[in-house]
Amino acid sequence: MLSDKMSKNLNEHIVYELYSGHLYLSMAAACASMNLDGFSNFFIVQEQEERYHAMRFFHYINDKGGDVKITGLDHPETEFKNIEEILEKSLHHEQEVTRRINLLMAQAKDENDFATQDFLQWFVREQVEEEATLDTLLNKVKLVNGEGQGILMLDDQVGQRQFTPPAESE
Ligand code: FEO
Repeated sequence: MLSDKMSKNLNEHIVYELYSGHLYLSMAAACASMNLDGFSNFFIVQEQEERYHAMRFFHYINDKGGDVKITGLDHPETEFKNIEEILEKSLHHEQEVTRRINLLMAQAKDENDFATQDFLQWFVREQVEEEATLDTLLNKVKLVNGEGQGILMLDDQVGQRQFTPPAESE
């Protein structure tokens, strides 16, 4: 059984994960209009990951007997100068997701809610990977000044990315 406060905050986090997907779809569209189809694919896959994250919360709340409430999403930003700005903003966004996961974990600890702590632990680890992936990509884009042959090679690389849901036991 979840506390009312825990249930409300977990519900809000579903919507934030869906918003993350919305933002990444907007970034995918911006990359496509910059003719960076590989980066566009990268953010389309990122959107699929965010929906998967949201659904983990969805199922957890249901499994614990809570009620899932889905509300509207904020409008994502749609105008970006270049790929460097997109990656900087996506990294900042992931840092905000991490902050929110940490707040949920702190609350679960305060409430001695061990099941929610166990559930959130997966996200604590996932956020390390989320931030590291974007930080590495941003640094590579900076190394090639976001242009020329270098950016085309990076675009090719990230164009290979595919969404693979983690195994159930992970
Ligand atoms: Fe679901 Fe990218 O955090």
